[in-house]
Amino acid sequence: MLYNNPRGVSCAQCHGAKGEGKIIVEFRDIHGKQTLRGSDIRLKSLEQMRNSVNRYHPVMPRYYLTDEEVKAIYDYLQVKNADYIQAHIAFRKDKSHS
Ligand code: HEC
Repeated sequence: MLYNNPRGVSCAQCHGAKGEGKIIVEFRDIHGKQTLRGSDIRLKSLEQMRNSVNRYHPVMPRYYLTDEEVKAIYDYLQVKNADYIQAHIAFRKDKSHS
């Protein structure tokens, strides 16, 4: 699937198998132990995905994916994380009642 091999650099490598986020590398510098993480992208909207993927980031490569390709990755994550996303929506509704 595209999520696992878009333009040769897998999103999963940095964002985890399902977009849940992942430690990319840990290292030490003068400030002590540093951790570089790929963020949790399970709750990002399609719009946010499009913007992120085609923008310059210090760590994340710029991909130049088409809208269809980003949509395919987005849909893939929506299906993979259906339970998590449902639970999150239910939780948000709950909070808005109180
Ligand atoms: C080399 C590691 C790496 C790869 C590969 C990578 N990302 Fe990222 N991504 C990051 C890091 C680190 C951040 C957060 C910091 C930043 O902006 O650089 C990020 C940020 C994001 C964000 C914004 C998250 C937020 O918190 O707003 C989205 C969405 C995203 N990535 C999606 C993807 C998708 C989709 C792919 C594959 C096409 C991908 N990334 C590949 C490392 C990576």
